[in-house]
Amino acid sequence: MARFSSSMLERIRSIDITTIIDPYVELKLKGRDLWGLCPFHHEKSPSFKVDGEKGFFKCFGCDAKGDGVTFIMRKLGFSYYDAVIYLAEKYGISIELEGETNNYSKDILSLHEEILKISRKEFYSSNGQKAKEYIFSREFSEDDCNEFNIGYLSANVDYSNIYKVYPKEILYNSGFFKESQYKKPYSRFFNRLMLPIRNITSSIAAFAGRSLDGSNPKYLNSAESAVFHKGNTLFNIDKAKDAMKQNKQALIVEGYFDVMRLYKNGFKNVAAPMGTALTVEQIGLLKRYAEEVTVMFDGDSAGEKAAFRSLERFAETSLFPKVVFLPKEDDPDSFVLNNGIDKFYELYNKREDLFLHMIKRLALSAKDDFNIKLSRFQAVKNMLLKVENMHIRDYYAEAAADIFNLKKENVYEEINQSRYKKSVAVNKTTANGLYLCEMDFIACLSRLPVDIIDNLLADFNLDMVNDNKIKEILKIMLANLSKISDIKDITHELGEQFVELAMREIAEEDAYKEALKNKSQIELNYLKKRQNDLIEQMRTTSDKSLQVNLLQELNNLTKQIAGKK
Ligand code: UTP
Ligand code: MN
Repeated sequence: MARFSSSMLERIRSIDITTIIDPYVELKLKGRDLWGLCPFHHEKSPSFKVDGEKGFFKCFGCDAKGDGVTFIMRKLGFSYYDAVIYLAEKYGISIELEGETNNYSKDILSLHEEILKISRKEFYSSNGQKAKEYIFSREFSEDDCNEFNIGYLSANVDYSNIYKVYPKEILYNSGFFKESQYKKPYSRFFNRLMLPIRNITSSIAAFAGRSLDGSNPKYLNSAESAVFHKGNTLFNIDKAKDAMKQNKQALIVEGYFDVMRLYKNGFKNVAAPMGTALTVEQIGLLKRYAEEVTVMFDGDSAGEKAAFRSLERFAETSLFPKVVFLPKEDDPDSFVLNNGIDKFYELYNKREDLFLHMIKRLALSAKDDFNIKLSRFQAVKNMLLKVENMHIRDYYAEAAADIFNLKKENVYEEINQSRYKKSVAVNKTTANGLYLCEMDFIACLSRLPVDIIDNLLADFNLDMVNDNKIKEILKIMLANLSKISDIKDITHELGEQFVELAMREIAEEDAYKEALKNKSQIELNYLKKRQNDLIEQMRTTSDKSLQVNLLQELNNLTKQIAGKK
């Protein structure tokens, strides 16, 4: 039986267990741990404990215990295999099986240590003179260079000792070396100031290199590898985590130099993503160490947009961040250089709740126009719908009602109605096994003009439909669309079942939008079915090359499914 790779399982383990449990158990902080009513037996007072940092839960009443995977197995009745796949899909982790192709982690980590040594040596050699001047010119000291292991790699580094020790697969899979057209390895990095990027256990997961001559890209990272996934890595988390644990706060900034500037000035609980927006996994990582997360953005409208976008990821994990906006012309690095660290603390101490800030900004931008106000409120409502935890949802719903000057009861009702519709939309089958989305799809089509139906069905693969009668209806439609001016013209051909389906009530007033939703649900169901088939095949085969093919297809599917959600 195929097994998941250790690096994939490590990524699964890095998902914050409180995020996994949150939708099922209402957890409250008591001391260092979170407690709630055990979902596995009946009880009136909480004996179910979650240790976010260690990634374990334990019930002192019924002795249920385990990690995030175990929780999903018990709660949803999944096998181990299915629970891992379920979490991988939910958190966008790609599925990897144990095989010759991805079991290099230990070697890659030790290769990185060798590269670090070389980059440090180069930095202090005559080759590194310019790099040293550069870093000193940016007001970093010798000590800072040691603290962050700053190095340099020229274009003429001699890697021959490394080539002697490490086989090519390791070199290429490390994300540091590339293969030339002459089948020789060469470094991705040259003429760059080098920063090691460490994981929470302080091993070097990757490198970042900054160009010194203005050439592009300004920053280059190692390619993703068995030990480096951009989306769950945070620069400086290895050093910042202790400070985060101590004062329970974490600050996220955009750039590597921003992190180093703050850290060297004593603001240690600071980290940065790898040049991308924060992911759910990174937020989960932060939640292990800190209770309050602050994000820092530029003060221009691009910064504000980026802040709003980040809110969505936070909403999905029920952690609501604080935000600080910088003056237009500054990043944290230049702000501290220009104004000193005390002024930075003053700024930081003015941090405010990002969601409330967003609600206020949207309400304000509507001025006094009631219609604009309502359309601005839609954006707030959509964000509220993403919040799983009902207490947090109510808290922001109440604030939104206040700020938008709307009736609280109406706001609550609207949110609850929309949530109900949402849960109906993903409902899969009726009691007799019919897929609701397939039935609703027909109901929607029956209400639409012929050219729109034509458009909706143009790229629709009939194989995706489960129900044969519905498949037949769609076939007849396709065969006749070009000849008719209204779908009712062929009611007779479409049969009794069509008439019945056409009478179904549909959730939204806009039949086209609702049709799109159902179409997408049908596609999703199909992809998931295919996914299950593949998993089943993978589980039962021991043929390595078949496994590799299956795995590839499975990964493509997982990506498509994630895209559909
Ligand atoms: P910035 O362009 O704002 O750079 O990118 P910075 O951090 O202020 O860099 P300095 O001060 O000029 O040295 C912010 C972050 O975006 C990522 C890096 O993580 C960088 O720290 N980035 C930027 C890239 O990944 N590639 C790039 O080419 C540029
Ligand atoms: Mn900068």
